Amino acid sequence: MCGIIAYIGPNSALPRLVDGLRVMEYRGYDSAGVALQHDDGLWVRKDVGRVAALAERVVGGPTTHSGIAHTRWATHGEVTEANAHPHLDGDLRIAVVHNGIIENSTHLRTALEAEGVTLRSQTDTEVLPHLIRKYYKGDPVAAVLEALKQARGTYGMAVLFADHPDQIIAVRNGSPLVIGLGDGESLLASDPQAVVSMTRRVGYLQDRELAVITADGVVVQTLAGNDATLNIETIDSDYALADLEGFEHFMLKEIYEQPRSIRRALRGRLQLEEGNAKLGGLNMDPRDLLGVQRLINLGCGTSYHAGMIGAMAVEALARVPARAEIASEFRYRHPIIQRDALFLAISQSGETADTLGAMGEVITKGGTVMGVVNVVGSTVARISGRGVYVHSGPEIAVASTKAFTSQITALLVCTLMLARTRNLSLSEGQAVASELDSMPEKVREYLENPGPIDQAAQWVAEASYVLFLGRGFSYPVALEGALKLKEIAYIPCEAYPSGEMKHGPIAMLQKNTPVIFVAPRDGQREKAISNLREVQARGARVIAIHTEGDTEIAELADLSIPVPSCQSYASPLLTTLPLQLLAYKSGLLLGRDVDKPRNLAKSVTVE
Ligand code: AGP
Repeated sequence: MCGIIAYIGPNSALPRLVDGLRVMEYRGYDSAGVALQHDDGLWVRKDVGRVAALAERVVGGPTTHSGIAHTRWATHGEVTEANAHPHLDGDLRIAVVHNGIIENSTHLRTALEAEGVTLRSQTDTEVLPHLIRKYYKGDPVAAVLEALKQARGTYGMAVLFADHPDQIIAVRNGSPLVIGLGDGESLLASDPQAVVSMTRRVGYLQDRELAVITADGVVVQTLAGNDATLNIETIDSDYALADLEGFEHFMLKEIYEQPRSIRRALRGRLQLEEGNAKLGGLNMDPRDLLGVQRLINLGCGTSYHAGMIGAMAVEALARVPARAEIASEFRYRHPIIQRDALFLAISQSGETADTLGAMGEVITKGGTVMGVVNVVGSTVARISGRGVYVHSGPEIAVASTKAFTSQITALLVCTLMLARTRNLSLSEGQAVASELDSMPEKVREYLENPGPIDQAAQWVAEASYVLFLGRGFSYPVALEGALKLKEIAYIPCEAYPSGEMKHGPIAMLQKNTPVIFVAPRDGQREKAISNLREVQARGARVIAIHTEGDTEIAELADLSIPVPSCQSYASPLLTTLPLQLLAYKSGLLLGRDVDKPRNLAKSVTVE
């Protein structure tokens, strides 16, 4: 979603800002802009579309030493140059870039207009520079603090004053900001990846904190005016700049990274002899685990699908009631929070506003919530305090692939711990631990020989509608497969539990409609075969993802994609792989921008 980068120091700001914007492109955006201190004023350029277009437009721009820049993902107002950030006050002397949403912007806009202010955009953000201008009497910090007393909502923002080119003001409330401290130069970004090429010494601003950033350092205070400290840490080498390593796209690279990323999610956690696992970050001993009487997984999109799989595994192996909930719904339905329930907030980015909102609701009602997160130091990780890092490494492609399988892996490890305190004997626990341990190798084995994906992609790319079906553990996999195909190839499709097909979606089937059956060998296999025959009777084409050696399904299907054999709770780690490849290849056939699909954002920091 939107990205912020700011620079102040002895070097030319412009190329550093443009580089920072490039790094954040993966987050998803539709326009970009930059504001620099220049002569006695500000120099501003914006463009709709890619950062490359802005980069061309600013060639020959001023060599000055402070500036702010932004990639915008439209929320309030269309994708236009006027709506792109930075936004300026009426005198063009105060520039603001902002992530988040000013919820009372309509009211503020009307009030400003009544005072004679002319606003130039349709955005919620634009009220900020005008409000700051209104309260500016020579002290930038005082003006920003006063303006923010009027604004309600979420913000990560950077402000550049023409009168004070030697400082950048940053404020955070619900939208992440990281400050990078270099040698005589400082940076600010909404994403650590954008600062890492310049410095690894960083500090994360906390909610309701304001920082005055200069080339020599940073001074932090709270919005209430109290002193605050920025904890400086050295950023993890995981954030090293993303490299395609010979792959054509990040999505493909990340799909093929899964044997390693799943291994990382398991490393140091499985106890093969004890038939158990250890997740230090949960900080729960067996007695605490035994106290968990229900588990609720919260997440959005792909993370919600991982949560569904995790909840099914917990019910199957630990016999603890478990369910997954869509975080955006959970938050607003006045949920019942019980003392003996454990909530897991699952998020790749750790910055998803809906998931953070759901966590907030659990915390307000006195519940226990922990994070299952990929991005180290992200907001979910920090506000939960306890949890599990999934360690998939930075995921650059907008569509989640390796983070999904790492989330599932981490949830299965949690499941083993829970299950071992009640339902699983030593030998059963050993069998689960050794099954999980074998999964990276099985994933590698499948990816080496992925089956007729090209043919499947050809059929899918030609289709106007695609149906994904699966039962039990394969239903969330079907949902995830359909989500990937929508995200990457923009093909209308949906996923149903196979048994539901005849209750409606069967009407959509015509000659050659591709139907993707996720049907590994499990307790539901016979039923899956009946569903498969029902589909074929309507002339649809069946692409079956099944366990290798299952000749009956292989022969029935129009196209057979075998995956290695495993226990049903682990099967999503394998059956999801052909669906990721299918989305990727279908997207390529249709000429889509597979790493940066339209309208999507990598971390969705607004509700
Ligand atoms: C995944 O491909 C999607 N881009 C999206 O559904 C994503 O999973 C969702 O927005 C949640 O993101 P998070 O895991 O970072 O919280």
